[in-house]
Amino acid sequence: YGDYSQKIDYVFKVVLIGDSAVGKTQLLARFSRNEFSFDSKATIGVEFQTKTLIIDNKTVKSQIWDTAGQERYRAVTSAYYRGAVGAMLVYDMTKRQSFDHMVRWLEELRGHADSSIIVMLIGNKSDLASLRAVPMEDAEEFAQRENLFFMETSALESTNVETCFLTILTEIY
Ligand code: GTP
Repeated sequence: YGDYSQKIDYVFKVVLIGDSAVGKTQLLARFSRNEFSFDSKATIGVEFQTKTLIIDNKTVKSQIWDTAGQERYRAVTSAYYRGAVGAMLVYDMTKRQSFDHMVRWLEELRGHADSSIIVMLIGNKSDLASLRAVPMEDAEEFAQRENLFFMETSALESTNVETCFLTILTEIY
């Protein structure tokens, strides 16, 4: 039957952004359903998942939006960012270019989202440590300069995935 008496105290919209193939869809799959897929297809348009959590005795429903990293599949940006209170800027720590592009993604975010939005920088695929192309210090320095939270994750191994979503939701709350 579930708990129909459960009331939602807050609904938080969080958006995922970053280049294609950095792992946005798999981070979301891991967080919302504890799933992971190797043959993940490129996202077309926009998708979202929700997950309800209890934070400080309050019921917080997170609505996590995932969009295409590929330009040709991108949906209208302003609608995507509207109402978002959190954002996750995701790069692939084995692809330097995906980190270098964070500047552009941040620019787009700041141009469309509310200025009070909480932003977390995420270096995904930490399981591929031997292929690391982005030193942790580079990411930390960028995060500090731009006032972002920072974490390295692995959607594959489930490392820090829950922690990074919980951190951003707690900060919003
Ligand atoms: P777009 O939808 O095109 O924007 O891509 P995306 O950022 O959503 O990437 P997606 O989640 O589809 O993942 C791309 C590829 O990376 C897939 O083959 C995933 O299985 C793989 N992948 C995602 N996360 C990880 C991870 O933590 N470690 C490893 N080794 N592979 C991962």
